[in-house]
Amino acid sequence: LEAALQPKLLKGKRVLITAGPTFERIDAVRGITNTSSGKMGYAIARAAYEAGAEVVLVSGETALATPIGARRINVQSAQQMLAAVEAEVAASDIFIGVAAVADYYVLNPSEQKIKKDAHILTLELAPNPDILAGVSSRPNPPFCVGFAAESENLLEYAEAKRLRKKLPLLVANLVQNAFGADTNEVVLLDDHGETRLHSAPKIDIARKLMAHIARLYPSVKT
Ligand code: CTP
Ligand code: CA
Repeated sequence: LEAALQPKLLKGKRVLITAGPTFERIDAVRGITNTSSGKMGYAIARAAYEAGAEVVLVSGETALATPIGARRINVQSAQQMLAAVEAEVAASDIFIGVAAVADYYVLNPSEQKIKKDAHILTLELAPNPDILAGVSSRPNPPFCVGFAAESENLLEYAEAKRLRKKLPLLVANLVQNAFGADTNEVVLLDDHGETRLHSAPKIDIARKLMAHIARLYPSVKT
């Protein structure tokens, strides 16, 4: 019932969301990934749909069911996530990057399973593209929202990240609070300052985030 009663603040808007971890292949059976349950991104997809938006969810591998109303595109690597975002972004009004994108990929993944021996194994890693920064630096970008998971100096690191990536809005959270949990506690950073959202279920945080986006959105997008 509560879901149906949410104000339709984003009616007619198309919202593109990345969620979950990416997975970068090492060999046929191994890979490098990030800690991410996908719960926050999926809650945001649900809240965006409740707010009347058309929702596209580009998702790394999670154990979660597709939120009602969302069109879900499954990806594995950061490169695949980037390709899916590039295919959808031009038609999107709002982009929310919630995914825990691996910052590096393995330069020469092995087709076959690497056999162990007694020696040190060195992997060569190269940086992945920054999907969110790429979207926000497009000529006519959607309203861009980032997430910053930090383990220390939360507000300082997060605000620096917001300015570096040219984002009108960034959601800052401590990894200690967020990871794997059903609740989260965040600070919203925008040009007007900080807004604290106290510890609450992720769906409540997501609904408040939609309301915050709806307040800021018209002032940014012409
Ligand atoms: N992000 C992205 N593509 C990447 C890395 C990050 O789109 N290759 C997005 C995330 O989805 C998130 C935001 O950028 O919305 C911040 O991610 P985070 O990992 O906190 O920041 P980084 O810029 O990667 O910096 P660092 O990991 O060094 O803190
Ligand atoms: Ca990162």
